[in-house]
Amino acid sequence: MYLWLLFCVSALQYAVAAQNVTGIDGWLRYARIPNADSLRGQVPGHIVALNDSETSPVFTAGQELMSGMAGILGANADVSYSMSEKGSYRNATGTLIVGSMDQFEGASIDMGEEPELIEDGYHIAFSGSDVHIIGSNQRGALYGAFKLLAWLAQGRLPQDSYTSNPDAPIRWGNQWDNLQDGGNHGSVERGYAGDSIFFKDGGVREDLSRVPLYARLLASVGINALVVNNVNANESMVEPRIVEGLGRIADLMRPYGVRLGMSLNFATPELLGVLDTFDPFDESVIQFWQDRTDLIYSHIPDMAGYLVKANSEGQPGPLTYNRTLADGANLFARRVQPYGGVVMFRGFVYDSTSLNQTEDWRADRANAAVEFFDGLDGSFEDNVVVQIKYGPIDFQVREPASPLFAHLQNTATAIELQVTQEYLGQQCHVFYYADLWKSVLDWDMRYEEKPSLVRDIIAGRRFNQSLGGYAAVINVGLNQTWLGSHLAMSNLYLYGRMSWDPTVSGEDVIQDWTRMTFNHNPDVIQTIKEISMESWPTYENYSGNLGIQTLADITGSHYGPDPASQDGNPWGQWTRADTFSIGMDRTVFNGTGFAGQYPAIVRNKYDNISTTPDDLLLWFHHVNYTYPLKESDETVIQHFYNAHYAGAANAQTYAPRWEALKGKMNQQQYEEQLYRLIYQGGHSIVWRDTINQFYYNLSSIPDEQNRGGCGGDFPYRIEAESMELDGYNVTIAEPWNTASSGRLIAASSNDTATATATVPDSLLTSNSSTYDVAVNYFDVAIGIAHWTLYLNDRMIGEWKGDMEYRLGHAPAVAINGDSNTRITFHDVKVRSGDVLKIVGEPEREDVAAVDYISIFPPGVVD
Ligand SMILES: *[C@@H]1O[C@H](CO)[C@@H](O)[C@H](O)[C@H]1NC(C)=O
Ligand SMILES: *[C@@H]1O[C@H](CO)[C@@H](O)[C@H](O)[C@H]1NC(C)=O
Ligand SMILES: *[C@@H]1O[C@H](CO)[C@@H](O)[C@H](O)[C@H]1NC(C)=O
Ligand SMILES: *[C@@H]1O[C@H](CO)[C@@H](O)[C@H](O)[C@H]1NC(C)=O
Ligand SMILES: *[C@@H]1O[C@H](CO)[C@@H](O)[C@H](O)[C@H]1NC(C)=O
Ligand SMILES: *[C@@H]1O[C@H](CO)[C@@H](O)[C@H](O)[C@H]1NC(C)=O
Ligand SMILES: *[C@@H]1O[C@H](CO)[C@@H](O)[C@H](O)[C@H]1NC(C)=O
Ligand SMILES: *[C@@H]1O[C@H](CO)[C@@H](O)[C@H](O)[C@H]1NC(C)=O
Ligand SMILES: *[C@@H]1O[C@H](CO)[C@@H](O)[C@H](O)[C@H]1NC(C)=O
Ligand SMILES: *[C@@H]1O[C@H](CO)[C@@H](O)[C@H](O)[C@H]1NC(C)=O
Ligand SMILES: *[C@@H]1O[C@H](CO)[C@@H](O)[C@H](O)[C@H]1NC(C)=O
Repeated sequence: MYLWLLFCVSALQYAVAAQNVTGIDGWLRYARIPNADSLRGQVPGHIVALNDSETSPVFTAGQELMSGMAGILGANADVSYSMSEKGSYRNATGTLIVGSMDQFEGASIDMGEEPELIEDGYHIAFSGSDVHIIGSNQRGALYGAFKLLAWLAQGRLPQDSYTSNPDAPIRWGNQWDNLQDGGNHGSVERGYAGDSIFFKDGGVREDLSRVPLYARLLASVGINALVVNNVNANESMVEPRIVEGLGRIADLMRPYGVRLGMSLNFATPELLGVLDTFDPFDESVIQFWQDRTDLIYSHIPDMAGYLVKANSEGQPGPLTYNRTLADGANLFARRVQPYGGVVMFRGFVYDSTSLNQTEDWRADRANAAVEFFDGLDGSFEDNVVVQIKYGPIDFQVREPASPLFAHLQNTATAIELQVTQEYLGQQCHVFYYADLWKSVLDWDMRYEEKPSLVRDIIAGRRFNQSLGGYAAVINVGLNQTWLGSHLAMSNLYLYGRMSWDPTVSGEDVIQDWTRMTFNHNPDVIQTIKEISMESWPTYENYSGNLGIQTLADITGSHYGPDPASQDGNPWGQWTRADTFSIGMDRTVFNGTGFAGQYPAIVRNKYDNISTTPDDLLLWFHHVNYTYPLKESDETVIQHFYNAHYAGAANAQTYAPRWEALKGKMNQQQYEEQLYRLIYQGGHSIVWRDTINQFYYNLSSIPDEQNRGGCGGDFPYRIEAESMELDGYNVTIAEPWNTASSGRLIAASSNDTATATATVPDSLLTSNSSTYDVAVNYFDVAIGIAHWTLYLNDRMIGEWKGDMEYRLGHAPAVAINGDSNTRITFHDVKVRSGDVLKIVGEPEREDVAAVDYISIFPPGVVD
């Protein structure tokens, strides 16, 4: 009998361990913690939630506490929804009560000393064996419940009472979801995790089962509203059939205290064919918006407000009618004001058609926002918040804080961050935002020579605003991991934590998140923390350094490397690289004048090259490639080469460090993330070589260390174009620098093609008998090619070009830096004279292209 029981228990444990962690619960897995037994007794199992309405966040709090305590502690908790229902609770010891301050008062429960709470704040009191979770409102009570559960999930519980208030009232998410699949970037613009959870085929989905799961994650970190559709908004959003659907979405988010917001297209009255104008001063236009707003609020009485992108990147706006941006914002603000709604008006305004790099040294898109808002401060309604991207260009790997934050003292502002990694590896590269966001939030504008941190400006403290705060473009999709990769979710968690308290430590946050998302294993926590904290400098090193921006394909995917696209484009995202020099001269005395948009102290620092820190050197100054850096003994060009080698080298370490965690975490989480880390290691080399080849070619200045791609050869590579080809043709990549040495091979017909080469003596210089064999190939979407690699007719491996289904970044449609990919075979016995053969089977546009084969000894990466 005893033995039988033991067997059952261990079988059960095994089953639990073998279960997959898909990522659908994010950090709210409520997995059993190692010290559950010791904590179980410290939290009362009788829960009273002071509202029995199923749509109330307090009801939700009761449910979460019950399931959380069952999962995390293995506790047998029960919940009731009023004090009277189980009257004994009132005087019984050992009750966990959750509710708003009003509800505590209404039930005559002694709160002790009244906590000092602002909107959405909460207080957790431990008094004897009772725990009270008191929210300033119902949403705050839910936040308090999630806080208690977060402590438990991390295996700790404070002894003292705890009060927490948000730093700013606005903590919103933005989804760039389209009504319809397709468009430029698919169902979610700049989304890398599948189709929209909200919309399908031009309308709201019937199956909205992912919505409450998403709202739950948002609520657990204090996000209190979500704009559900793309800022490049479809006019149909205000049509009755869509509004009805939005009502269903709002109903599903309401129990989590997440209010629905929506993006509007400024030209809606005209686009819908209702009116022939969208002039914000036209009476019929005003009436149109009044009617639609009334309709929306009749379905969604607590609608958070509108988000408006106007007169930017081709979007319509008030300037069409010679009205100001404030006139445009106020048109909507006055409609939602009686309902308590706000208008988030985007500060990202620029006219892409007026910028010509060749003709005008002073042209600069970075100047646009401040110029467009010039003279408007104070003319916005009180319920308008200007939503300003963190930097003046567009979510680059490093930017100075937007100077617009210092120009609006009489207007509420919010910062716009991105959780989705548009320019930062699109969830295929690890990128943890903590330090990047801090570099902007802690940026001091020195307005009137007084401390003026961006985080104090947006919170309303610096200029006395009652509104303001945070918005982040999140872009989850139907993928089980929400963002496409397990590690990327740390950024959504971080966004909530940081918008609640911008002084939190990025290291603390990632460790908290890891404990809840993975487990408490110290190796797991340490490795994820280290990789995450290194991820910004690593990515910056192999993408764009010294403030030059992310050197990605700027006109299309925003993903793979393409430094040439950074100049001559009409979007004004430029580096002004020529054969001698590089950088944007944004000085006042000789350049675009951008530095002059900052208050004097900041302006003087960046206007002067000798006081500009190296990491923003090329953002503010145009210098020769031979310009010496201040903080190292490198020149600009040598720093480029060194940084790209260093960044790619560090990215190589991610996968092996992850492999050391095998068996220490859930297998699904382990394997899915490992796939991406291996991919990132290969792609970082593509980044490195593309950038180095480009600038070496442009400047003709060789690397001091004579490394491959910047003056020297790649010692371990066999270029595919040098192999003996049958059915393959030599071709060039577009742009050329995205292929090693500029050339590659592609199948010349639909038939199988082969490339062969004899391994030369010169390649095998080490004493090792085994080598890593890496193949760089191009995985183009539209078709799944197939490759097989042989050594002396012995198959080393085979693989498919199916990244378009596995990675989720904007489909790689051509042979370029988006599609260049590496696969590596380890510990292969190679001798000189061996014959390497690649057999490629093309399919449609995936032409089984190959860049090179690299054979390197252990400990080397090439
Ligand atoms: C777990 O996931 C793997 C793939 O990651 C799959 O093959 C397996 O069937 C899943 N197991 C369960 C129990 O869902
Ligand atoms: C209970 O929750 C509902 C929905 O949020 C709310 O309308 C109601 O006022 C709440 N009741 C109390 C007593 O707070
Ligand atoms: C709870 O205790 C108070 C005195 O401490 C008493 O007045 C009250 O009747 C008790 N309530 C119940 C439901 O037992
Ligand atoms: C808006 O969506 C509808 C389908 O609901 C589509 O026909 C229309 O072209 C879209 N408008 C824009 C501006 O993309
Ligand atoms: C636009 O408005 C400005 C100021 O209100 C005015 O000076 C200007 O003449 C107007 N231009 C046109 C084309 O109406
Ligand atoms: C910019 O001006 C140059 C010189 O006048 C012209 O050749 C070029 O086409 C212009 N570029 C754009 C994007 O308008
Ligand atoms: C000033 O700008 C010109 C272009 O108008 C540029 O050629 C020159 O190098 C700049 N001078 C300095 C000192 O930066
Ligand atoms: C920059 O390089 C150009 C071209 O070689 C040269 O004429 C100029 O003197 C250099 N400027 C500085 C400041 O070194
Ligand atoms: C491939 O090369 C062959 C022989 O050089 C040539 O006839 C053919 O046109 C090429 N095919 C392509 C697609 O470039
Ligand atoms: C390859 O096959 C496609 C159909 O899949 C056909 O349209 C195309 O003409 C073929 N190309 C060649 C070069 O044979
Ligand atoms: C999630 O997305 C990734 C990449 O697009 C893909 O490999 C995976 O199959 C997706 N999983 C689910 C369950 O959608």
